[in-house]
Amino acid sequence: MSKDSTVITERAGKATTKGERKAAKREALQARKAEERKKRKKRKGGKRPSTPPPFTAATADKYELYQLAVQSADLDVKFLDSTYRSIRGQGPRHLREDFCGTSLLCCEWVKLGAEYTAEGYDLDPEPLEWGRENNHSKIGADAERIELHLADAREEGERLADVRIAQNFSYWIFRERAELLDYFRRARAGLGDDGIFVIDLYGGTESNEEMTEDRKIEEGFTYIWDQDCYYPGSGEFRCFIHFHFRDGSKMKRAFAYEWRFWNLPELKDLLREAGFSKVTPYFEGEDPDDPEEGNGEFSPDERGENCESWIAYLVSEK
Ligand SMILES: C[S@@+](CC[C@H](N)C(=O)[O-])C[C@H]1O[C@@H](n2cnc3c(N)ncnc32)[C@H](O)[C@@H]1O
Repeated sequence: MSKDSTVITERAGKATTKGERKAAKREALQARKAEERKKRKKRKGGKRPSTPPPFTAATADKYELYQLAVQSADLDVKFLDSTYRSIRGQGPRHLREDFCGTSLLCCEWVKLGAEYTAEGYDLDPEPLEWGRENNHSKIGADAERIELHLADAREEGERLADVRIAQNFSYWIFRERAELLDYFRRARAGLGDDGIFVIDLYGGTESNEEMTEDRKIEEGFTYIWDQDCYYPGSGEFRCFIHFHFRDGSKMKRAFAYEWRFWNLPELKDLLREAGFSKVTPYFEGEDPDDPEEGNGEFSPDERGENCESWIAYLVSEK
């Protein structure tokens, strides 16, 4: 056994005996992102004028809950901007966000500076409209540099992108190999010469288990990630997001996903087949004080670590 594999075995063994399934890295990362958001709000001196009414199933807005519980667009944008800079030696300008939903990431992107522009693609008019009303409206004139398209993510854009992304595993809706390859080819064709295409994914020994994970969100509700069923023969993977509230009410199946579970090496192969010159996984580093926890920093790592749950980005260069 090599030295490396000994280390991996020891770590995995430690995690199992501690019974720390719910402290898996995906959970930990999302919790840490929420904590960072909170700190940033405090630093900005943002005082709430009054305590907002508590969320309930009857009054809550599912897109607001989703953004609070799932997304950390500010951190994603930092990663995209700095990764592009470290690969290309200069700043990116134009972002294309496929499967953009409420286009929160487009909003964070254009906030980086006057030279940053963005476009989002989504098939569903509802989240697009919600995003215009609730996200674009909060960023003033910067919103003028965002263009939203009610269109399939595979459609050709009007501008070549420096950075193109598909976040939160959205591209897993393509369940056939040929379909995903076609999307990756189109994503590559829509990039400028120096463009990069970034997708995220998750995996780990518990990633295919039929299970639920609960996480309390500081704004006053519980987010439940439900891996409802997985078929190993086809890779079909059905997941839901539910929300529970302090008054006992529930919003069941607020979001439903019919995906194929794609693993990292097969995605890497497909991206190469689609013509990308270089495909690099970026895994999260370890917290020096607790090797079971991530540190929120993603860096290139060809092998990763075999833990219960991990998140990675795949960065593909045109
Ligand atoms: C999981 S949400 C992603 C929202 C957001 N981008 C995020 O990072 O959380 C997936 C979105 O993809 C959209 N969608 C599904 N199929 C699509 C397609 N073929 N083209 C464009 N959008 C699509 C859905 O309408 C939905 O808003």
